[in-house]
Amino acid sequence: MINLIDIQEQTISVVESTAIFIQSEIGKIHQKDIETKSLNSLVTYVDKESEKLLVQQLQQILPQATFLTEENTIESKQGEWQWIIDPLDGTTNFIHQVPVFGISVGLKHNDEIVVGVVYELNRNECFYAVKDNGAYMNGNEISVSSTSQLSDSLIATGFPYYDFDLLDQYIKVFQKLMTRTRGIRRLGSAAIDLCFTACGRFDAFFEYSLSPWDVAAGALILREAGGKIYDFNGGNNWLYGRQILGSNPQISAEILKLIKENFV
Ligand code: IPD
Ligand code: CA
Ligand code: CA
Repeated sequence: MINLIDIQEQTISVVESTAIFIQSEIGKIHQKDIETKSLNSLVTYVDKESEKLLVQQLQQILPQATFLTEENTIESKQGEWQWIIDPLDGTTNFIHQVPVFGISVGLKHNDEIVVGVVYELNRNECFYAVKDNGAYMNGNEISVSSTSQLSDSLIATGFPYYDFDLLDQYIKVFQKLMTRTRGIRRLGSAAIDLCFTACGRFDAFFEYSLSPWDVAAGALILREAGGKIYDFNGGNNWLYGRQILGSNPQISAEILKLIKENFV
């Protein structure tokens, strides 16, 4: 019998030990260490080493699980159990020493994410959740904000940086939120945006062109903290659909309406 709480504990240990490696590399990246995978999508040896460390150790926790990882250090395969890993979310921040980046590990069972761990590497904040068991940060239960008015809310987003097909639609939503909220932030790590929404620092987060490893763990954590997760049509296709809105339940309908009206 698989005990997800045990798996969560073991996953946290694996993530914490990998965090020590990444933290030891902060400030050591030179231009020669930076590879460009595609327009503005950067990778370093730290991303790849981090991924190898995670994969090696996670394989021991659940030998039957397959992997879906950003840096492809192991072949991607579907399976009943699958780890979905971003070994360093916020690589551009990491390279530029902007202190917002983390590790994201989700475990999917059939079609559902059941365990999520996101570790913010500059604040040593470990966010985690098991499905139906609430969300936590460093031992304390977390919950979304209770902000009920858009005018009182702080919204996080990610700016398009390589896929500009929906830029006009995005800018329209951005403009409306800019004039109707307290402000908009772009931290540079989708996993951390979702966790900061889960613990009430942000009231909502939205972004398009994301990959499963950016959102798998953070979306579970946000949902377990009482938040709502949607794709831009208000549906459930946020893991593979490349569009996500995560929000406290009070303002989610209003933001979703704005997105639906503009992303046509
Ligand atoms: C990126 C970050 C960023 C988001 C990008 C992601 P990476 O991940 O999450 O906030 O805007 O879309 O690709 O490349 O740093 O792992
Ligand atoms: Ca990422
Ligand atoms: Ca990454």
